[in-house]
Amino acid sequence: MSVACVALAAGCAGADAEPSPDGEASDIHDEDMRSNGLDGLVIVSDDPSDNPLPQLDDDWQSRFDRGDVAFEAVFRPGQGLGPVYIRHSCGSCHADDARGPGAARKMVHIEDDGMTPASDQSMFPFGHTVRPQSIDPEQIAGIDVPEPFDGLLVTSRLGPPVFGRGAMEAILDSEIERLEREQADRDDGISGRINRVSFASEANTETEFHSHQPGDEGLIGRFGLKARIATVDEFAADAYQGDMGITSPMRPDELPNPGGLEDDELPGLDIDLETVNLAADYVRLLRIPTRGEVDEAGEALFESVQCGVCHASQLKTDPDYPIDAWAGKRVDVYTDMLLHSMGRDLADAMVDGDAHGDEWRTAPLMGMRHLRSYMHDGRAATVREAILAHASEGSEANASVDAFLDLDDDEQEQLVGFVESL
Ligand code: HEC
Ligand code: HEC
Repeated sequence: MSVACVALAAGCAGADAEPSPDGEASDIHDEDMRSNGLDGLVIVSDDPSDNPLPQLDDDWQSRFDRGDVAFEAVFRPGQGLGPVYIRHSCGSCHADDARGPGAARKMVHIEDDGMTPASDQSMFPFGHTVRPQSIDPEQIAGIDVPEPFDGLLVTSRLGPPVFGRGAMEAILDSEIERLEREQADRDDGISGRINRVSFASEANTETEFHSHQPGDEGLIGRFGLKARIATVDEFAADAYQGDMGITSPMRPDELPNPGGLEDDELPGLDIDLETVNLAADYVRLLRIPTRGEVDEAGEALFESVQCGVCHASQLKTDPDYPIDAWAGKRVDVYTDMLLHSMGRDLADAMVDGDAHGDEWRTAPLMGMRHLRSYMHDGRAATVREAILAHASEGSEANASVDAFLDLDDDEQEQLVGFVESL
C-alpha cells in the first residue's frame, strides 16, 4: 500500500490512499516528490514500488489484495503479538515494500579478528537477535543488548525490499548451480556459493509452491540477507515468529524469552496458515519496479568491471512456477543468489545456516531507483558509497571496485547512473 500518499491525499494521483497503519507517513522519499505549490503539500511520484504484477487473473488479484492487508496489519497483544517482539507489522520494516525504516539488530561475541564468533556466546541466552519490545514491560523484559564488554559486536539489518521476490523464488535451481560452477572457474577472486539449508518449519499443507517436509535438507537458500531460507512462505512464517512473536501452524512455538513465557495474551496459535500464505503470496505477486530508460553505455561499463558477475541479470525461471507471469521467463533480478565473502568491514560475524560472518547474498539491484540507503545496514547514502563499501580486506569484490576506480569520472558517473535507473 502506498503509505507515502497518506496525509497528502490531495496530491495522490491515482493512488488508493489509505491511512498509514502506524503513522509512518513521514517516511517519504524526497526525490520521489515534487512540490505542487501549496505550502508543505507534496505529491509522491507516479511510480510506486508496491505494485502487483500486471494482468493478474481475478484469483491472484484477490490474493494480492488480501495479502496486502495482512502485510500492513498492525498486531496488538490480544492478537498474539509477543511476548517479545521487534515491531508490530510487516510494513513497518518494509515500507512501500522497499528498505526500512524498521531494522533487526544482531549481537554477537567476537574474537580479536573482529569477525569470527567467539566460542562463548553464553551472554545471549535468548539468541543473537535484539527483540526490545515486550507486551508487558512491567513484568517481562525484552531481549536487549547487554552492558558493553570487549568483543561485543552489535550490527543492524534494515528490512530489505521485498518486491520481485516471486521472481527470485521462481529461478531454476539449475541456473543458480550453473553460476556457482562458472564462478568456481574464475581467477579474479569472485567465487560465490550456494547456502544449502534445511526446511525448519512444519509442512505447509497448501502444496502449490512446494511440498517440503520438516528437516528436508540441501535446499537452495534464497531469502534473507544471507540466503538462510528456501521459500517465501517459510520466510513469512519466520518473520511472523521472529520479528513479531506471532505463532502459526508452520511455526507453532513462541521463541525463548526473558519472562520464560510459552504463550502470549492469545492462547495457542496466533494466526492461521491462510494468513501466512496470503502474506507470502502478496510478496510473490509484487512486480519488479518499472525501470527507467536503460543507459546501454552505463550497462556495458557495469559488465566490464565485473559488477554483473555477482549482480547477474537474465536468470531463467521454472516454467512450472505457479504464477504465470514469473514462469519460464528471463528475470532481471541482478543477483546470482549466491553468498560472497565481502570482507572484514561488512562482516557482522553472524552465522546463518551455512553462511559465515563475512558472507552476504548478492543484493538484488532491481528497483534500486526506490532506495535511498544502501547495503544491509543502510551505511551508504549513495550508490557510489555503496560501491566503495564493497572493498575491504578479504572481499571478493576488491578487484571490481579497483576496476571501477580506474574508470574516468564520466564513466564512473555513467555506471552509477545505470544502477540508479534500475
Ligand atoms: C523488525 C523488522 C521486520 C519486520 C517486522 C518484518 N521484517 Fe521482513 N525482513 C527484515 C529483515 C531485517 C530482513 C533480512 C533478514 C535476514 O537477513 O535474514 C527481512 C527479510 C524479509 C524477506 C526476504 C527478502 C530477501 O531479499 O530475501 C521477506 C520475504 C520478508 N522479510 C517478509 C516479511 C513479512 C511477510 C513480514 C511480516 C510477517 C516481515 N517481513 C516482517 C525485517 C523485518
Ligand atoms: C563479489 C560479488 C560482488 C561484486 C563483484 C559486486 N557486488 Fe555489489 N553487492 C554484493 C553483495 C554481497 C552486496 C550486499 C552487501 C551488503 O548488503 O552488505 C552488494 C550490494 C550492492 C549494492 C547495494 C544494494 C542494496 O540493496 O543496498 C549496490 C548498489 C551494488 N552492490 C552495486 C555494485 C556495483 C556497481 C558493482 C561493480 C562496481 C558491484 N556491486 C560489484 C556483491 C557484489
